[in-house]
Amino acid sequence: MPRSALLSRLRLSVALAVVVPGIGAAQQAAGVFTAGQAQLGRAVYDRSCAACHGFGLEGSGDAPALAGGTFMLKWGPKMVSEIFGLILQTMPPADPGSLGEEAALNTTAYILQRNGAPAGQQALSAGVGTRIDRIATGRALSAGVPAQGRGGRGGMGATIALGAGTTEGRSGATGKRGVSIAGEVGNYVPVTPEMLKHPPAGDWLIFGRNYQRHSYSPLNQITRENVKNLQLKWAWAMNDSGANQTTPLVHNGVIYLASPSNIVQALDGKTGDLIWETRVGPDQAPGYGGIRSIAIAEDKVFLPTSDAHMVALNARNGQILWDTPASDKPHPSTSGAIVIGDKVLMGLTGCARFDGEGCYISAFDIHTGQRAWRFYTIPREGQPGSETWGNLPMNNRAGTETWLAGSYDPELNITYWGVAQSKPWNFLSRKLTPFDKTLYANSTVALNPDTGKLVWYFQHAPGESFDLDEVFERVLVDIGDRKLSFSAGKAGILWKLDRRTGQYLGSKEMVKQTVWERIDPQTGTPRYRTDILEMQLDKPIHVCPSTEGGKNWQAMSYHQPTGLLIVPLSQSCMEFTAHPVDFQGASGGTGGDRK
Ligand code: HEC
Repeated sequence: MPRSALLSRLRLSVALAVVVPGIGAAQQAAGVFTAGQAQLGRAVYDRSCAACHGFGLEGSGDAPALAGGTFMLKWGPKMVSEIFGLILQTMPPADPGSLGEEAALNTTAYILQRNGAPAGQQALSAGVGTRIDRIATGRALSAGVPAQGRGGRGGMGATIALGAGTTEGRSGATGKRGVSIAGEVGNYVPVTPEMLKHPPAGDWLIFGRNYQRHSYSPLNQITRENVKNLQLKWAWAMNDSGANQTTPLVHNGVIYLASPSNIVQALDGKTGDLIWETRVGPDQAPGYGGIRSIAIAEDKVFLPTSDAHMVALNARNGQILWDTPASDKPHPSTSGAIVIGDKVLMGLTGCARFDGEGCYISAFDIHTGQRAWRFYTIPREGQPGSETWGNLPMNNRAGTETWLAGSYDPELNITYWGVAQSKPWNFLSRKLTPFDKTLYANSTVALNPDTGKLVWYFQHAPGESFDLDEVFERVLVDIGDRKLSFSAGKAGILWKLDRRTGQYLGSKEMVKQTVWERIDPQTGTPRYRTDILEMQLDKPIHVCPSTEGGKNWQAMSYHQPTGLLIVPLSQSCMEFTAHPVDFQGASGGTGGDRK
């Protein structure tokens, strides 16, 4: 190489070394996109991406952050053309390819801008080979990216990817909150604690129909012989601005239904006529999170909203009686709710970012709406179980969501909840070993519903590392005088526990799984495959099932007459790659890829 070329190359790399880390300096680097592109990209992003990745690009749920330290660790060394290609071909997941090249370029420009890349004269085109860390720092330039004024619930700012409300209060874009269609349920019969314990055959008062979550109706008019004669009597279109994953409740011939955007309706079961409708708000941006159930007690319907408020409505006419946020920070929730005595309980999601608080289960007084207790699903420093997080400070312990409400044994007065995996997903991304259990991730926690105190716990998947959470329903079954709890997580293993003590009684693999090599027959403790113990960051590893789950949230059912558990299952496998995660500030996230 001629000396002059070598020199100029050296000079170039010296210049880059100065330019890259400094935000001010990066501003001087030639832009690879125009300000106009980024502006157009922002509109696309807010409309089509923010529901999952967050208005502040902070990520939520499984959708990674698209700005900040963790994003730069993964994307910094890659080319602008790579992220553009990924967006063009795979995003949004519900309709890949729908953006088209121009919108995908503009969105890429906006994402680069939010990571501190300066705009310039040159328009971004598909083939740009520039490395992302040559132009971006992971931190937005202070000028040029205006703050996100999203309105909606006051003070929520841009930090949560739920509820694209744009006007006053919690009402969202419709600008209307409260009873939107007035009406009255005739001859309303209050729901008593006794009815919740022994639901009338024609009612469906709880998420899984009974407290034990059997998800089974004793009604027997429809038989194998006459099922072919069923005819459509009426149909009702639900709001479809988000995932519809709800279980409607039925009481005395009235159907209570929650739809995305926090809409509750009372329908006449016979005719399908709407009796009342309440828009609790906020509106949801398309594509995100379902509310898995509402709850009913006395003369109240309880809606756990998509932004983690518990709201009580008058079951007769839909009027809002009280509204209490579960958290003082913005959070989503999908868990649904369960009423036990004079309390209503809900879970929390969206705990993947480092915020120092972590996730918890909440209880509210059904009459006043006051918060009654919280059970933190990550032990605080100094508490028993805290040592299972190694030396991580509280700020770097994340995950352990509760995204399905628990079940309940009225005789033992214990409520049983499944807890999701810790975050980041993989032990390497968590900077821990596979032997750091990270309680109470992937456990059954048994709580006293009056106090929220832990009675016992059993951890199904200690140190779980592949987004295979054990969060789904606990089905309570009595066999002789044995009181059992059955559950199955994404690994597709059916677990049998003594629900008085949490003692392990047995397990069964229902689909092919290759994560665990062996389950100790005495203790139920699983052991990882050897090559998993030795896995490395950024190197894919093959495991079954995939994060689709051998079992997912769709309920299993217990058919008492025959003693059968009927379980929806699916067989899949994946290549899982763990990535490094930024441990500074409110970063975090899931830190993994699945293919
Ligand atoms: C319904 C939710 C959803 C929507 C809407 C959505 N994404 Fe994603 N996105 C995801 C998930 C989940 C992943 C992670 C995929 C995986 O782990 O395999 C992802 C991954 C990505 C990645 C890769 C990030 C990484 O660190 O690997 C980019 C970039 C991205 N999305 C951009 C976009 C853009 C731009 C839009 C809008 C046009 C969009 N997404 C819309 C859910 C969504």
